[in-house]
Amino acid sequence: MPDAATTLPPATPERIAGAVHESRRHDSAHKHVSGEAVYVDDIPEPAGLLHVYLGLSARAHARVVSVDLAKVRAAPGVVAVFTAADIPGENDIGAVGLHDEPLFATDLVQHVGQPLFAVAAGTRDQARRAAKLAEVVYEDLPAVLTIAAARDGDRTLVVPPMTLSIGDAAAALAGAPNRLAGRLRIGGQEHFYLESQIALAVPGEDEEVTVHVSTQHPSEVQHIVAHALAVPDGAVTVEVRRMGGGFGGKETQANLFAVCAALVAKKTGRAAKLRPDRDDDFQITGKRHDFEIDYDVGFDAEGRIRGVDMLFAARAGYAADLSGPVTDRALFHADNGYHYADARLESLPLKTNTVSNTAFRGFGGPQGMVAAERVIEEIAFALGMDPLDIRKRNFYGTTDRNVTPYHQTVEDNILPDLVAKLEADCAYRERRAAIRAHNSASRILRKGLALTPVKFGISFTATQFNQAGALVHVYTDGSIQVNHGGTEMGQGLYTKVAQVVAEEFQVDIGCVRPTATSTGKVPNTSATAASSGSDLNGKAAQNAARAIKERLVAFAAGQWGVAPEAVTFHRNRVRVGGQEMDFAALVRAAYMARVQLSATGFYKTPKIHWDRKAGRGTPFYYFAYGAACAEVTVDTLTGEYVVDRVDILHDCGRSLNPAIDKGQIEGGFVQGMGWLTTEELWWDAEGRLRTHAPSTYKIPACGDRPRIFNVALLEDAPNREDTIFRSKAVGEPPFMLGISVLHALSDAVASVADHRFCPRLDAPATPERVLTAIGALRERAAAHGAAPGTATG
Ligand code: MTE
Ligand code: MOS
Repeated sequence: MPDAATTLPPATPERIAGAVHESRRHDSAHKHVSGEAVYVDDIPEPAGLLHVYLGLSARAHARVVSVDLAKVRAAPGVVAVFTAADIPGENDIGAVGLHDEPLFATDLVQHVGQPLFAVAAGTRDQARRAAKLAEVVYEDLPAVLTIAAARDGDRTLVVPPMTLSIGDAAAALAGAPNRLAGRLRIGGQEHFYLESQIALAVPGEDEEVTVHVSTQHPSEVQHIVAHALAVPDGAVTVEVRRMGGGFGGKETQANLFAVCAALVAKKTGRAAKLRPDRDDDFQITGKRHDFEIDYDVGFDAEGRIRGVDMLFAARAGYAADLSGPVTDRALFHADNGYHYADARLESLPLKTNTVSNTAFRGFGGPQGMVAAERVIEEIAFALGMDPLDIRKRNFYGTTDRNVTPYHQTVEDNILPDLVAKLEADCAYRERRAAIRAHNSASRILRKGLALTPVKFGISFTATQFNQAGALVHVYTDGSIQVNHGGTEMGQGLYTKVAQVVAEEFQVDIGCVRPTATSTGKVPNTSATAASSGSDLNGKAAQNAARAIKERLVAFAAGQWGVAPEAVTFHRNRVRVGGQEMDFAALVRAAYMARVQLSATGFYKTPKIHWDRKAGRGTPFYYFAYGAACAEVTVDTLTGEYVVDRVDILHDCGRSLNPAIDKGQIEGGFVQGMGWLTTEELWWDAEGRLRTHAPSTYKIPACGDRPRIFNVALLEDAPNREDTIFRSKAVGEPPFMLGISVLHALSDAVASVADHRFCPRLDAPATPERVLTAIGALRERAAAHGAAPGTATG
């Protein structure tokens, strides 16, 4: 028995600090605000560091006749210039193995901002200035810039489209008592991570290189660097301590910067860093896909949907990137929470001469849901009913009416109850009446209200990505390190996984140190994406911790002659039969007896499978649910608006950390609201993005947040599946709560014509678009001959 052993005191009811389900601040919160958190650009620079900058295409689509880099090479401070000819391996940074994304363009450029070469210089300023000195001769080719142009043209697709079909949509539409059709346009979105893209490569011996990069997907960066350098994966180590936001924009988009830095490092033997300026980052990296969605819906007199046909045309940009899975996920969410017995949903991932669009929080799901909500709104206006009543009538059932267009049965539908609770809690009906009264007495300032639901499928739809690994070390003083394949981008993953490990060992979270994600510690990892970070890595870390714990239990049972069940862990202490000792004392004793104190853990999500060709399967392990009610005031003279109040009820299962989850809900909602309101991407006729800085691209500021913002987590709602401590993923689902603001704006706009016509407000609903919609509604009302209520402006 070690010295620390004592006889058993009365059982202590206190829990460890940082147990699961406890609200606990982000492990780096204080460092984020004080500036002490180390991002890639904060890593002390190695001696002899080179700064790299990219030379970019000025044309959207052109043959490259010649590239003269003499002035670039001769510029002050320039050490070397690299083009495609200098790449030892593959000139390819594409994520999905289609080889359609060169690192450096050669004889063809396909979008403005496409990299042509890299220049390395002594300072970043020198490299930036030199990159501008290239003399490129282009021969312009016809450029397809918009969804409309791609549709009207030859409709080249970047990946094969997908179709989901259930029942007989055509027959149901033909037989429906009512039918209407329309087109919805939804703009894209810039990620606007606060830390822009960055990579720092440090050359090692022989073929080795270490890359510090702001990426959500270290393993993919590793593979792509290895292919470009023509070295084995094992020669490349990718390390990420944290990102200053990723939001999907660093799932594949970091590849370019990492490969460039690694190429320069290996070619010159010097460390190399590449950090694009914000304006260049905007132009070089892909964004959320904009969509044009055609819908045709049949419904009965009660507003029940009979048949649905939708076509989802998306601007994919010049290469595939993640456009396949993104447009697939749009179809998977074109039902939102509604049951379509007869539906046909089709995607159209169109090739355009614009930057290749990519993952962004929700991954196409938000666009699918906006379409579903537009259809609901259309039906409500057609029948003169409250949209909320149409929503409720069409919800999936709990025991029947529960098969999705992809033939998965919804087994966990809590949406009807959740929405009913929010409706009561936020006094929806009373406020609806009050707003109608307000509007009839207010000529210029009009209020709007909307309550919209969210149902979001959790899992990667590519089944193989639903796996994770972890590595846990217990040191002889009882301190613990945990490492896993997930990356930290501000969402609190490291904190949640540390809580899981603390809970398993029943030690305070202060004893558990998360360490930087590294391909050298946990290999073959998936991107931290699809909201599955804590589901996957939490379970993997739990399995690693349990392996060590089992060894400790077996050791203690043998050492002190008790049954294994008599070895239990409590608040930094361990009971062994009638005795108790510090956790550290047990660890030390185990070490002396040569017990292994390190373990790997692995997890793969059960149940899921997906057959894309057949459009059938169980792509999602479970669904996360939520609902939001938004109230807005619109100035009908200017189109400007404020969000007066938002009430949210969101389902995190049994939350691993309610404080962090609340942060995800608030942040996700505001980002979703920004997408649908003020964030507008605008390309000119030459394919140049003209909104490439905060001066012209408006993300929500603190002043734009809802004046009243009530956020609640759904209580007593454990995940019915065996997820990590019965929690649910929370990273993306709340983004789509922002849809409530679009519909509240639409409701306010509709008031100018007494709610007789559906405003068909497209996104982003900028003040300009709101004003245009108001004008259009008034014209419609006038054309129908009736006085448009009190709304004469
Ligand atoms: N939260 C912060 N603060 N920063 C981010 O970049 N990304 C979102 C979400 N929440 C993001 C965030 C996206 S797109 C995803 S997929 C998830 O976090 C990823 O992390 P998770 O799987 O651990 O939830
Ligand atoms: Mo999130 S779009 O899955 O990185």
